[in-house]
Amino acid sequence: MLIKRAADIKSSEITPESVWLRRRDFIRGAAAGVALAGLPRLSFAEDSGRRALDFTPAADLANDAFRTDEPLTPLQHVTHYNNFYEFGTQKGDPARYAGRLTTEPWTVKVTGEVERPGTYALEDLLRGIPLEERIYRLRCVEAWSMVIPWVGFPLATLLQRLRPTSRAKYVSFQTVMRRSEMRGQRSGTALIDWPYVEGLRIDEAAHPLTILAVGLYGKELPNQNGAPLRLVVPWKYGFKSVKSIVRITLQERQPRTSWNQLAPHEYGFYANVNPEVDHPRWSQARERRLPNTLFNPNFIDTVLFNGYGEQVASLYSGMDLRRYY
Ligand code: MTE
Repeated sequence: MLIKRAADIKSSEITPESVWLRRRDFIRGAAAGVALAGLPRLSFAEDSGRRALDFTPAADLANDAFRTDEPLTPLQHVTHYNNFYEFGTQKGDPARYAGRLTTEPWTVKVTGEVERPGTYALEDLLRGIPLEERIYRLRCVEAWSMVIPWVGFPLATLLQRLRPTSRAKYVSFQTVMRRSEMRGQRSGTALIDWPYVEGLRIDEAAHPLTILAVGLYGKELPNQNGAPLRLVVPWKYGFKSVKSIVRITLQERQPRTSWNQLAPHEYGFYANVNPEVDHPRWSQARERRLPNTLFNPNFIDTVLFNGYGEQVASLYSGMDLRRYY
């Protein structure tokens, strides 16, 4: 991956946090079933055609790790500073070109070591699973980071529904292959052997912090963020959080993963955020928290496991994190 400076983003393009907080209060009322006189339930769609979602706000969830008090990254940055190489390698390419991706209908193929394999329509696969908000830090391996209010559900909930067999030791995920709609898949610029694939060990996949997201900022995912279904693993570098998933495979062996295959010395299978283990071409000790400017670069220290060590360190006890990077 290349490191780039944040493109200058006009302040007029930034969604003020106060607007978001007002919306959140509204959603909270709606999710709690509170009648808001004269307002249809979940009816605000002022900034785009994305549908609003019904979910439990992070503030109401029992686990403190499911939210953070750090300021949210404005919606404009979350949706216009992206890595989604299927649409190009520039940060603005996904916002520019992902609108072309057709996300309805959407099917997910479930294969391998499960009792309930099959090709599921997305709505059937997720039917009845309650949505939750999770406010997580996202730390990219390129040394920038954001704080994003996702809407989704624990991957563990879906795995329970699919019933992995005792031979399932890993889960792998595959992004949609759609050359006609994804210009990056037609060009060889990214050097990725499409489709994009990622994977987790089964205990990482079943960890309560690991979610499948269907939305952010209270609404359905924008295409550039991986609509209609993407993984979010907050203690790992962002490249593990594979977008626009069409295939989930439970398997006995460690799956191959796109970035590891492309540059094995630079991108490991585990990819846990670790300030002590530098990328061969740059330091991982610090990160640029978006939004930032030339005059306020907003660098902060990177924390082991992206600050989720208390929750996840035990998954790696006894493992040499330099070797298993
Ligand atoms: N998934 C696919 N299919 N293709 C990609 O290029 N980029 C990854 C990850 N998931 C990528 C992907 C990287 S490097 C990061 S940092 C995150 O998506 C960025 O997610 P965001 O654009 O929603 O912030």
